[in-house]
Amino acid sequence: MSAQNEAKRVTIPQLQARARDGEKLVMLTCYDASFAAISEEAGVEMLLVGDSLGMVIQGRDSTLAVTLEEVEYHVRCVAAGSRTALVIADMPFGSFQESPARAMRNCARMMAAGAQMVKLEGGAAMVETTRFLVERGIPVCAHIGLTPQSVHVLGGYRVQGRSEDSAARLVADARAHEEAGASLVLMEAIPAAVAASVAKALTVPTIGIGAGPDVSGQVLVLYDMLDIYPGRKARFVRNFMQGAPSVRAAIAAYVKAVKDKSFPAPEHCF
Ligand code: KIV
Repeated sequence: MSAQNEAKRVTIPQLQARARDGEKLVMLTCYDASFAAISEEAGVEMLLVGDSLGMVIQGRDSTLAVTLEEVEYHVRCVAAGSRTALVIADMPFGSFQESPARAMRNCARMMAAGAQMVKLEGGAAMVETTRFLVERGIPVCAHIGLTPQSVHVLGGYRVQGRSEDSAARLVADARAHEEAGASLVLMEAIPAAVAASVAKALTVPTIGIGAGPDVSGQVLVLYDMLDIYPGRKARFVRNFMQGAPSVRAAIAAYVKAVKDKSFPAPEHCF
């Protein structure tokens, strides 16, 4: 049995094989059908329906108030506009941390809405949930390093893994998620050298945002790289609209820069 509109959608094993062959993977956040269509036409391989929507679309000052229903709605929109990219649903704060069984119920809603993978923020505390979901058919991307849903525990949007202990913990957490069955590990705002050691310790692909060049691929927030988010820009953001004649061209420039390894440059790294 094969659904006709799924025929050309990239699979997780295909992405893993590309990464093994040394090809850089391209992920971009996406919240609606039109951007989904033009992003994948431009070569984006993974569309992340990020809870960043709380900041860039809803205008809030953190991601904490984003609800399951809101992410589910945007997953539906992105899935409707997308045919070839892997659609990843970012599980919002409070929807998965309480118990693996609750996470399963809520992640299943995202898969029914059109996602092919879910992303969970968290290190060791989330490993059991990763295992529970993967064993029940839900692919997981583990998000470690700066986890914005924990902004108040972290004391702000700060670079993580600067001390020897915290760097070692990142490696251990990433390995534990991989061992539990995670298909991807996403690292946010950690020193490039630490991200490189995490990537070296894993066999699954690693996706970085502010994690330097020595990872399997990159992700950026769409509204940051198009320079339409009015808030503060992190060091790791590059404005791809600069010099681009259109939004399509800007997204294509991002894809090219990740694939040819010219992004991230040293000025985007910690
Ligand atoms: O919500 C989001 O957009 C994210 C990215 C920053 C990775 O989690």
